[in-house]
Amino acid sequence: MRERILALLRESKDYLSGQELCEMLSVSRTAVWKAVNSLKAEGYRIEAVRNRGYRLVSSPDVLLSEEIKSLLTTTWWGRDILYFERIDSTNNEIKRQAENGASEGLLVIAEEQTAGRGRHGRSWVSPSGTGIWMSFLLRPHMEPAKAPMITLIAALACAKAIRRATNLDAFIKWPNDIVIDGRKVTGILTEMSAEMTSIHYVTMGIGMNVNMKTFPAEIAQTATSLALVKGQRIARSGLVAAFGKYFEECYGQFVQDASLVNLIPEYEELLVNRGCDVIVAGEKDRTVQKALGINQDGELLVQDGQGTVRAVRAGEVSIRGMYGYV
Ligand code: BTN
Repeated sequence: MRERILALLRESKDYLSGQELCEMLSVSRTAVWKAVNSLKAEGYRIEAVRNRGYRLVSSPDVLLSEEIKSLLTTTWWGRDILYFERIDSTNNEIKRQAENGASEGLLVIAEEQTAGRGRHGRSWVSPSGTGIWMSFLLRPHMEPAKAPMITLIAALACAKAIRRATNLDAFIKWPNDIVIDGRKVTGILTEMSAEMTSIHYVTMGIGMNVNMKTFPAEIAQTATSLALVKGQRIARSGLVAAFGKYFEECYGQFVQDASLVNLIPEYEELLVNRGCDVIVAGEKDRTVQKALGINQDGELLVQDGQGTVRAVRAGEVSIRGMYGYV
């Protein structure tokens, strides 16, 4: 009910009377009044004017499920949301929920993670109220080998959402980091439970540095936040909703094609390394190659000094810029 009231107030250009709200929601005036008061207690500024009704003046920067749901335009992504003030890791919670039979699209979001995890066994700094620490559940019907491609889709959706919500020039560092001005603002951790030929479920974890002002010394040179680049605080719930919209669109395309073929142009447009020399570091060697783009399997196409083009796979190599992280 609070979620519907928020959505209606948001949609309305003018005041909405208590009577209109009652009719639209089929509830009593007292119920509307109580819901409005509880929203006010959460930090929503709702103006109430005699004979005119209610108007939403501003929303607090919270990730409450009603706030996100009132902004979502998705069909299945984030339609169920579990919100935590504090949790070990949202990826861990998705796994617990998945094992208990949760449905595809479940979103777990937390204000703070006490044991946030990054790739390669690293930890992920997730202080309270400053970022988007969220994970969602997928149950794809495809071979396990295709799952890593979903990470590229999530990266594309992140970059598009950041651009849409902040106007900042967010780019993708292949395969799935989001960078702005050469520094990382978002990381993605994809985890899978599968057998040889089928996937049980995939956990997609997104960590977006939104309003952080400082970073620990180890990452201070390579990380930044949207607020630091933009010079102002950014509302997180709008970003979550924008991400959901783009993810659902791109993922739908991917499932239909069973490849990234129709997403290549958009991904390449946002690929920060495109046309640049990069250091390709494998297990045994490091070579300098020119990054050309990606193929329909999400591999990076690189060209050596002799003009030979080959595809390299995420997980087998990592890439770095010639002069640093990008
Ligand atoms: C990376 O190392 O770049 C990936 C970082 C992924 C961090 C996110 S935050 C939400 C989710 N929960 C986790 O424990 N990790 C991911």
